[in-house]
Amino acid sequence: MRTDVLRVDRDAPAPEAVARAAAVLRAGGLVALPTETVYGLAANALDPAAVARIFAAKGRPANNPLIVHAADPDAARRVAADWPGAAEELAARFWPGPLTLVLPKQDLVPDVVTAGGPTVAVRVPAHSVALAVIRAAGVPVAAPSANPSSQLSPTCAEHVLRGLGGRIEMILDAGPTAAGVESTVLDLTASPPRLLRPGPVTPVMIEAVIGPVEVPAHLVASAGEPLRSPGLLGRHYAPRAALEVADGDGRERAEELARSGQRVGWLTFGVGRGQGHPRLTAVVMPRDPAEYAARLYAVLHELDAAGVERVVVARPPEGPGWLAVRDRLRRAAAE
Ligand code: TXA
Ligand code: MG
Repeated sequence: MRTDVLRVDRDAPAPEAVARAAAVLRAGGLVALPTETVYGLAANALDPAAVARIFAAKGRPANNPLIVHAADPDAARRVAADWPGAAEELAARFWPGPLTLVLPKQDLVPDVVTAGGPTVAVRVPAHSVALAVIRAAGVPVAAPSANPSSQLSPTCAEHVLRGLGGRIEMILDAGPTAAGVESTVLDLTASPPRLLRPGPVTPVMIEAVIGPVEVPAHLVASAGEPLRSPGLLGRHYAPRAALEVADGDGRERAEELARSGQRVGWLTFGVGRGQGHPRLTAVVMPRDPAEYAARLYAVLHELDAAGVERVVVARPPEGPGWLAVRDRLRRAAAE
């Protein structure tokens, strides 16, 4: 299949491009489109055959449910069978934006979207292109990140093309995404609401609106504890290169691997003095967690493309602002 790549303006996408994408979606096809977090692989959420094609294109296990994206809170509400006060308050505060709410599902949502489960995940994305396409299609769209299953999420159209080119009808290219990591996922069917995936909207921000949120222990590594897989999740959001998080800044480990003959990428907060090594590529990362998150996948994609075999990451700081970055690094390091 030929994959059409259409360049669109991030803030004011051309109506013709939006109409073409919407037509592909209405015909049961797949369109990769930008959101404020990462690029998503969209299909008509109400068309089970179209949604099944998402799973096939990504090689995604059928038991991993998809997020439904709606153009506005009213449309989001129609896919949920129950709309508690917390959903109303969080939608008012954070939508459009990178917060996904898990709610009891309405019958009109096909089982393939929710992996047969009784709940549906829904959000309104904060991106003019995604919103315009969803509105023009006239249906909610199911959209996981637009990458082959278990690989890094795409933060630009080139990443999508590299991973899924030839398997999907269209990519809308509006340049790099802003947040760089996937949305926060919050389960509102639990009491208190439970954080399922840390993201740009932090527990502190959520608690300021609806009160206490449960943050499962495996998401909070305490000081000194190695950043390893919780076991439950397995390797996910992972680059091709083997990634490890160092106890300190990782320089010694990175140099040791480079001396042993491997091509090494090193994510650090400052290179400092020293010779380095010809097989070592040092990348200075931002000290602000949101800026770090915005860069992380792009840097890992670049290192993969450059043929790096090992990635050593300087341990990120503790603290609630780093929850999403630490989670993604932990998963990338999982075996
Ligand atoms: O930022 C994002 O959320 C991006 C953009 C494209 O919107 N999408 C994304 O989708 O990251 P995906 O499929 O890569 O991740 C969806 C996450 C998965 O961890 C999935 O298990 C969880 O949401 N999820 C989806 N439906 C769920 C449900 N009903 N209950 C619990 N978790 C659910
Ligand atoms: Mg994903």
